[in-house]
Amino acid sequence: MSLWYFLSVFLHIVFSAFWIGGMLFLPLVILPEIKQHPDRIAILYKTGLKFRFYGWIALVGLLTTGLLNMHLRGMPFTWAFFSQNAYGILVSWKLLIFTGILLVSGTHDFLFGRKALEELQVSDNKNFKLLARWSGRINLLLALVMAFLGLVLSRGGTI
Ligand code: HEM
Repeated sequence: MSLWYFLSVFLHIVFSAFWIGGMLFLPLVILPEIKQHPDRIAILYKTGLKFRFYGWIALVGLLTTGLLNMHLRGMPFTWAFFSQNAYGILVSWKLLIFTGILLVSGTHDFLFGRKALEELQVSDNKNFKLLARWSGRINLLLALVMAFLGLVLSRGGTI
């Protein structure tokens, strides 16, 4: 296996650690600590926007290094491989779930999250806050499933 392959898997792990870590850090560390802070909404807005920016870089990085992992491991990009081979079928599941992650992230980052912060500034209404919270949780769950599937892939790809 080439140095490029190891570098690709290394970057893949760094991107997934950053993204999953960030999705755990915000609700478990930042939110509880700023609950009573007078500038709570401004801090949430600024940290949310910053994580959104780097989060999307991580998602693009995960797709790029994911496909590179396959290529550098000599896996063919054929329908037969993605539909009949155990390793290929797992990668297909990863790509399918990843599409779901992109949809949920897009809705969370550019609609629910933004609307929730606007809502917090003007009223006690919590609708978008709940939608933002649950879409964030769904994304975390999907990311953990992706990490598990990745772990299986790296060890030969059959469950
Ligand atoms: C949220 C997105 C993703 C996360 C969190 C994630 C996470 C991981 C993790 C933790 C590993 C295991 C690394 C190891 O044990 O050495 C892995 C491996 C892998 N991932 Fe992903 N991944 C993601 C997206 C993708 C995508 C979109 C693809 C697209 C093809 C992909 C393809 C792979 C492949 C092929 C491997 C096996 C690498 C090897 O040959 O060892 N991943 N992934």
